[in-house]
Amino acid sequence: MSQRILIWDIPTRIFHWLLAVSFAGAFLTAESERYRDIHVMLGYTLLGLIAFRLVWGFAGSRYARFRSFLFKPGEIAAYAASLLKAKPAHYLGHNPAGSVAVFALLALGLLTGLAGVIVFRDIGGDVLEELHEMAAYAMLAVVALHVAGVVLSSVMHRENLVRSMITGLKLGLPNAGIRRAHAWLGVIMLASVVAFWLGYPATGPTPQNMNVTQAEHPHTTKACS
Ligand code: HEM
Ligand code: HEM
Repeated sequence: MSQRILIWDIPTRIFHWLLAVSFAGAFLTAESERYRDIHVMLGYTLLGLIAFRLVWGFAGSRYARFRSFLFKPGEIAAYAASLLKAKPAHYLGHNPAGSVAVFALLALGLLTGLAGVIVFRDIGGDVLEELHEMAAYAMLAVVALHVAGVVLSSVMHRENLVRSMITGLKLGLPNAGIRRAHAWLGVIMLASVVAFWLGYPATGPTPQNMNVTQAEHPHTTKACS
């Protein structure tokens, strides 16, 4: 008999919502020099979160482990076919189509963030600047597909996946659930991110970096008149 069981541990849920906030915030603050500090701060947060997730993909609870949603191409194709027949197979963790988006989001987040750091430290040049921007837009496209997939799956399976990513719960057989939520680790994660945000040094735009040359290369703070 199905009942509500715990699928997503707390660190995975906190990771997810902080990742979404960091990505959205970094994207919205990307264009303007005025918000560059916030942009960089959120970009570093996103990198830290992904670093955590890479470890948690091996050390985390059952459905957080990469092994549990690493599907073979045949399984992904079979799932896609079941979607087309409007009879998608049900998964308690990530489904095969969703898992492709999850790995793509982690990879693109890592690429965008690392390219951003290189640009910020002035060791990359124009190519890295382009790469940073292109990776960010590619990630935006995958986020759109990801959200559309979540909505579609929720409708097809008549289960609210967004609520599950908040509460951690899904309907399933009792012995399929995870036993521990790892709440302590979630608290440490949240506290670390908040402490990082509160302690982040704000340099802000200076008269020097608002001049014409700097407007073309707004990540540098050197004065050149
Ligand atoms: C991973 C999340 C991030 C996203 C989604 C993102 C997105 C973007 C986008 C779209 C732009 C282009 C803005 C424009 O049109 O001019 C940009 C520029 C920039 N980003 Fe990021 N970024 C991220 C992370 C970072 C990080 C971690 C850093 C540095 C540590 C960084 C530093 C910069 C800098 C310095 C620029 C300006 C580049 C230039 O001179 O044109 N970003 N970012
Ligand atoms: C804005 C940027 C977003 C990014 C970068 C992102 C990224 C991710 C990642 C990496 C996962 C895998 C979680 C894990 O196993 O660690 C995931 C899962 C999930 N995301 Fe997002 N997400 C974003 C926005 C959203 C939004 C806005 C929603 C709600 C509509 C959402 C709903 C979900 C749900 C429900 C899952 C679990 C899917 C399943 O049941 O298999 N995400 N997301």
